Amino acid sequence: MAIRPLVILPDPRLREKSEPVDAITDDIRALAQDMLDTMYDAPGIGLAAVQIGVMKRVVVMDLAKKDEERQPLVLINPRITWASEETSVYEEGCLSIPDYYEEVERPARVRVAYQTLEGETVEREADGLFATCVQHEIDHLDGVLFIDRLSRLKRERVTKKFAKAAKREAAG
Ligand code: NI
Repeated sequence: MAIRPLVILPDPRLREKSEPVDAITDDIRALAQDMLDTMYDAPGIGLAAVQIGVMKRVVVMDLAKKDEERQPLVLINPRITWASEETSVYEEGCLSIPDYYEEVERPARVRVAYQTLEGETVEREADGLFATCVQHEIDHLDGVLFIDRLSRLKRERVTKKFAKAAKREAAG
């Protein structure tokens, strides 16, 4: 178990496509555990492997409320197989874009297919926060960030802010 450093905007890895997982090995199981540890530590409700610098199609989520027992979910090679015409709007944030939140419109309901850590293929329907979160995380696997779904003005503003912060940090 290990908490790993988060990959933060404008790190170019956030713009790359992640590779499919072809076998669920001990490495993948350890990766999923590290991702959960990192997500709970942050804290966040979802994390894609790219966010700890591993370019594999693995997502973890836990939508349990603070006073509820943990409900860790690991999705290997997740993909959207259906999306509703109907949309919903949620305020989104991202551990790779700290302290920035904006409302994003996405399909309100989706069907998602994935493999479990046991290698079982599952297809389930998601709505509400689950639907939003799973779409946000699958976007990460394709190098897409939630700020790409905002107006150009908002996206440019936040991109500039993080580029400046990175420069400041590099300058020490
Ligand atoms: Ni994110």
